[in-house]
Amino acid sequence: MKNFLNKSTSIFLVALATLTTTWAQTHGKQGMVVSDNTMASQVGVDILKKGGNAIDAAVATAFALAVTHPQAGNIGGGGFIVFMDATSKTTTIDFREKAPLRATPNMFLDQEGQLVEGSNHNGLQSVGVPGTVAGLYMAHSKYGSLPWKKLVQPAIALAKKGVVLSYTLASHAKNMQSGSSPDFMKNYFTDSEGKLLGHGDQWVQKELANTLKKIKKHGKDGFYKGKVAQEIADYMKKNGGLIGLDDLEKYTAIEREPVKGTYHGYDIYSMPPPSSGGVALIEMMNVMERANLDSVPFNSTEYVHLVAETMRRAFADRAEHLGDPDFNSDLPLDKLTSKDFAKMRYDHIDFDKASVSDSTTFGQLYDGSNTTHLSVIDKDHNAVSLTYTLEHSYGSEMGSPKLGFIFNNEMGDFNPQPGYTNSSGLIGSDPNLIRPEKRMLSSMTPTIVAKDGKPYLVIGSPGGRTIINTVFQTVLNVLGYEMPIEKAIETMKIHHQWLPDQLVYEKYLLSPDTKQSLEKMGHKTREVRNLGRLMGIIYDTELNIYIGASDSSSPDGASIGY
Ligand code: DON
Repeated sequence: MKNFLNKSTSIFLVALATLTTTWAQTHGKQGMVVSDNTMASQVGVDILKKGGNAIDAAVATAFALAVTHPQAGNIGGGGFIVFMDATSKTTTIDFREKAPLRATPNMFLDQEGQLVEGSNHNGLQSVGVPGTVAGLYMAHSKYGSLPWKKLVQPAIALAKKGVVLSYTLASHAKNMQSGSSPDFMKNYFTDSEGKLLGHGDQWVQKELANTLKKIKKHGKDGFYKGKVAQEIADYMKKNGGLIGLDDLEKYTAIEREPVKGTYHGYDIYSMPPPSSGGVALIEMMNVMERANLDSVPFNSTEYVHLVAETMRRAFADRAEHLGDPDFNSDLPLDKLTSKDFAKMRYDHIDFDKASVSDSTTFGQLYDGSNTTHLSVIDKDHNAVSLTYTLEHSYGSEMGSPKLGFIFNNEMGDFNPQPGYTNSSGLIGSDPNLIRPEKRMLSSMTPTIVAKDGKPYLVIGSPGGRTIINTVFQTVLNVLGYEMPIEKAIETMKIHHQWLPDQLVYEKYLLSPDTKQSLEKMGHKTREVRNLGRLMGIIYDTELNIYIGASDSSSPDGASIGY
């Protein structure tokens, strides 16, 4: 990577020791935490300073986000960790939610076998068995160094003492008062007398603090067994949900081999199924490796066309082939991530004209809503890339008032109508149909790129299916176009997901001339305000410092280094 800082600037910045910023880059000599919330990033850095490693800091940050960033930070959802340690060992932890034992492939269909619009994302039947606590617990048991209690305690303190409500959360609180919000949400951002809180008010979460205390004391059993589990099961039973004590008791996180790819000498490690993110990322990087980027200037028509056509193909493959590996014994992972397959995909791109996505085959809906990513690196070069989610912003918007946390609505990530795929984006392929205890296919793409066996780039993003593409473009921007991390994160992103057949781009960032040329080639363009909310760290090998950057689209986010 090019050096874009002169030495004296960086020495000055490093001398600032702990520098917090939301939008620009931050420098750290010993460690770095980048997350969607300043308080949570600070919790992570404090853990590093106390001698914790990257896993410790990631676990503590994730618990803190469940308090300070409740639209996506969670203990009622699930996610993935990609971890690379100082000796180059790389692994992943899958704590994706599972379908309850009593779920069926047709549970969201009416009597005619048609999807009941919205049913897979609304109400308690949309809740998957949460995985977050089991995942964080497994990560810590296998790879952490500080006592578990020390990692949960900062989140308890934040929930008990209260956090100042940011402008963003206060506006969510106001919006939640609309008639359609469940009562749980209407009462969520309130004080002890039930009065709605506003920007700058102190927001205390007593019930969440109590739930976290049980997790602190009993580890994962504090969530999956005992009083918390009993209340989850009772609440579900009373209100029409499917999750029972048996589901909670049976839930386990799973350690899996990462998917691995290469790009011009860099090693890319990412999340395997049940996420589709890693496989699609590696397929796309392999396709791009075939191109001579000198003749594909960044943001030119050629660039957008090639990147969009690469995405179109990877998303078709994703829709056709991917699902929970524990329910699909024959996922063609080696094939999809091979260089030969990428050559075949590249060779079929027409450089003058957009392909047409065939609506009789595969595709999937674009979705925005909410998830959160955090990246951590410590003084020994252990790195963690963690993405977790409730699926929609505030998930199902439901939870037990006694427990104080929000349930996901992740069941919406399954293919809801078996056998039915259409051009507006519904997919009916078999690998991702609902089955009891199956994990729904995800697009989360926590990724670590290594150079000479050491973590070089730690990156991830929220954004539903756009995650795969925004992570892909950021990795390409750094490795292929040699951009500094914050530029790689901020610069124009596009999104194509096969079906609907649209080239989505960020408003203001694509030149009108380029847009016009793309339309002449047959692309159907659509503008959106923003794509991605990337949280990244890069290791500058020459200066021997970590550089962190949190996307400007994250209003409360921060990279903090020390
Ligand atoms: O796992 C997935 O792919 C989705 N449930 C993630 C949802 C999401 O990222 C929404 N975000 N902004």
